[in-house]
Order: sequence, then C-alpha cells, then structure tokens
Amino acid sequence: MKVVIIGAGYVGLTTGACLAELGHHVLCIDIDEARIAAIKSRKLPVYEPDLENLVARNLDCNRLAFSHAIGSNISDAELVFLAVGTPSRADGDIDLSYVETAARNVAPHLGEQAAVVIKSTVTAGTAKYIRDLIVRIRGDRAIDVASNPEFLREGSAVRDFMKPDRIVIGADRNASQVKLVELYAAFERRGVPVLKTTTINAELIKYAANAFLALKIGFINQVADLCEGAEADVVAVSEGMGLDSRIGRAFLSPGPGYGGSCFPKDTRAFAAIGRRYGQPQSLVETLIGDNELRKTNLADRILEELGNPEGGRVTILGTAFKANTDDMREAAALAIVPKLIEAGVEVRAHDPKARFQASRLLPDVLWYDCPYEASDASDAIVILTEWEDYRRLDLSRLAGAMRGDCLIDYRNLLTSDDVVAHGLHYVSIGRPK
Ligand code: NAD
Ligand code: UGA
Repeated sequence: MKVVIIGAGYVGLTTGACLAELGHHVLCIDIDEARIAAIKSRKLPVYEPDLENLVARNLDCNRLAFSHAIGSNISDAELVFLAVGTPSRADGDIDLSYVETAARNVAPHLGEQAAVVIKSTVTAGTAKYIRDLIVRIRGDRAIDVASNPEFLREGSAVRDFMKPDRIVIGADRNASQVKLVELYAAFERRGVPVLKTTTINAELIKYAANAFLALKIGFINQVADLCEGAEADVVAVSEGMGLDSRIGRAFLSPGPGYGGSCFPKDTRAFAAIGRRYGQPQSLVETLIGDNELRKTNLADRILEELGNPEGGRVTILGTAFKANTDDMREAAALAIVPKLIEAGVEVRAHDPKARFQASRLLPDVLWYDCPYEASDASDAIVILTEWEDYRRLDLSRLAGAMRGDCLIDYRNLLTSDDVVAHGLHYVSIGRPK
C-alpha cells in the first residue's frame, strides 16, 4: 500500500521504517527540515537500537522516502498517518495543536481514496473532531479518520512494532477499517490479535493501558518502600507476585519513578479525561503526585547519605529516562540533579547515549565519557538508569577512584554482597541492608 506518515519522531520514523520493511511504500514527512536532512544522510536524530539499519535498508530499496513538505506528494496515499507530538498542557490535558495543524496541512491534498489515521496518543473524541475539521476544510464527507494507537517502547521500538502483543484498529466506518486490516494483514496471518473497534474505544485503550502500566510501577515502588521498613526484599516479593499469570512479571521493577515522554504526560491526560466526563480517575490522580514526590524524596535521600552536602561531589551514572535511549524527557535525573546542585553538591555524570541531550538540560553538570573518570574523588555514586554496562562495573576500579564510600543504586542493578566486599556502603531500593 502507499502510506504517508506525518511526523518523523520516534513513532513516525519507526512506523515508517517498519511498514516499509513489510513491503509497503512509505513517505515520511516532517516539518523539521534539519531532521529530514539528517535522516536522508542516514544520521538519525534519535538513538534507537536497530532503527538506523532499517531506515538505511529501506531507503536503499526505495520503499521509504522522506520529505519536509506536504503537497501533491501525498495525493496517491491510501493511508495518511498523523504521528506528531501531543505534549501536556498546563491543566494536564493534551495540546492537540500539532495534530490539528497536521490535519489542516494534509486536508487539501488528500486523494479521494485516502483515510487519515491518528497514531499519536490523543484524547477521547479526537478522531471525530479531526474528521469534522477535515470535512469542513474539504467539504468532502467521504473522508474518514481512524485511530490506530501505538504501543511501542523507546529502546525496543523496532522489536515492539514488529512483534506487537496486539494491534488496535479504531474505525467508525468500514472503509478505513478495511484499509487498516489490509495494512496489517501480515501480522494477523502470524496470529497477532487485531482488535477492531470504534475510534473512542481505541483512544481510551491507549490511555488506560499506559495508566495501568504506570500504576504497576507506582505500586511496586510503594511495596519497595514497605520492604525497606519491614526489612524484606522487593526483588523476591516482585518475583513472587509476578509468577501469578494474572499479575505478570513485567513492570514490577522499582526505580526512581517513571519518566519519559509518555507515562507522565499520558497519566495526566487520562486524569483530565476523567475530570472532563465527571468520572475522576482517583487512582491515577494519586499516582501522578506520588511519582513526582518519589523523585524529590530520592534526591533528599542522597543528601542524607552525604551528611554534609555542601562541597560534596556526586557522580550520576545514567541520566536517560530508561536504558537504550538518549531521551531525557521527564527523566528522574532532571528532578534529582538540580536538588543536589541547589544543596551545594558538585555533580558529575556519565551516560552512554544521552550526554548530548542531557548536557543542554543540566548545564551545571560536568560530563565524562568514562564512568570511572566521572567517579574520580566522588563522595557518592548514584545509578539512575539501568544501562547493562552499569551491571558490569569494575567495583575495585570504582572504589579506588572515589574519595567517599557510598554507592546508591536506584535501579537495583548490583548486589549488596558484591558492593560491600569492595569496601563500599550500598544503598538500593527495597532490599535489606
Ligand atoms: P516526537 O516529538 O519524537 O516526534 C514528533 C515529530 O512530529 C517531530 O519530529 C516534529 O517535528 C513533527 N511534527 C510536528 N508537527 C508537524 C507537522 N505539522 N507536520 C509534520 N511534522 C510535524 O514524538 P514521538 O515520541 O514520536 O510521539 C508522537 C506521538 O506518539 C505522541 O502522541 C506520543 O504520545 C505517541 N507515542 C509515543 C511513543 C514513544 O515511545 N515515543 C510510543 C507510543 C505513542
Ligand atoms: C511506554 C509504554 O511501555 C509503551 O507501551 C507505550 O507505547 C509508550 O510508553 C508510549 O505510549 O509512548 P516508554 O515510555 O518508551 O514506553 O518506556 P517504558 O519501558 O514503558 O518505561 C517508562 C518508564 O517507566 C521509564 O522511566 C522506566 O524506567 C520506568 N519503569 C519501567 C520502571 O521504573 N519500572 C519498570 O518495571 C518498568
């Protein structure tokens, strides 16, 4: 099929490259000219494992193309996806202006056979609203707008897209549903469940799924705190819970609070939808506050471990919001590091991929390419991101480089016995001392 994707960010670019890999002809359009120029020269603006190769391969065989302009180049497309950002507004609801602008831009150029598909995560009722907008611009009631939410994770985006747990097709009319079923036929043949439903159901599935996953994380974070009080081990508790197939093991790892471009924004939007329909989502409302508080509490805990923070030196290992990405959006480091600096601490940092993005957001931090150099004469080391490399740290080298003895592991990557054997004091989350 001929497919156009508006927005070449994490989702648009991954969707475009993966659909091309499946044999479709894809044109990705982004208003950011520099981004398009970089992609065309095979330098991706984001770090995402496997994506660079996939883009290059499909550019080479002409199944994937890029442009920064919308015009007659989209008029033969059967499906036009909108995959632009939907950031939070101050009231927690989402800013739909990027989706609206993209819809206004494509409307005059859509062919008669085209359906518009919203892939961005959008609030309940958006597909209907965007359809009305396009119909007003074109005066063509045949144009249909469907909803096809995306469930990929950053850091494993290509794998998640290619091996999804399910595909959700929200369509209020047969025409767009038929086209989307055809687009994803290869997945259905492989046995991937394809849920066909209405647009409003699809929009709510996306938010309810993200809110539920975020609740799982918030829950295990509270259980970890309880384990600390009770001198129990959250790793064992989480494993024992997760072995129940009704609960499942995924998303039960405690940490410094969830971050990223999605859970914080999507939980706020879910709560806003609840308020709009007079059905407050109190579990999620509470979670939002708890998750923010967790980040500041964990910063306070570092300061307590330092005793006298003024003039102290702390090394942060990992600043990205999770491993395998360079994305810094709503990363725990953005809440924790400024609190340390405010208390007079010198902060040094290392991250295998996020240094460039992070150094602009945290300008007072000293950056290093090597975790051991970053740890030179530090009083405390704090692991904030679960990069695999940090599991294999040479603890002798680390201990030798430090001037203090405190290793704070907010991702539970190491074990107390190992760390203590190297003469260090170990602080982790929800595990006995
Ligand atoms: P992003 O910020 O990485 O990319 C959005 C892109 O859209 C940018 O490159 C921007 O230049 C472009 N854009 C904005 N307005 C445009 C316009 N009018 N025309 C053309 N291009 C335009 O965002 P993202 O992370 O890819 O997320 C996109 C949507 O997908 C959001 O709604 C998000 O919630 C949702 N989502 C994201 C993920 C994820 O892991 N990042 C996963 C699932 C769903
Ligand atoms: C999340 C969802 O997992 C995707 O399904 C969804 O498509 C996406 O949001 C979205 O809607 O954009 P993502 O934010 O990329 O994906 O990454 P996750 O792996 O979900 O991690 C989110 C945050 O939760 C990270 O800060 C991570 O460190 C944290 N987390 C995750 C934990 O603290 N514990 C866990 O057990 C799992």
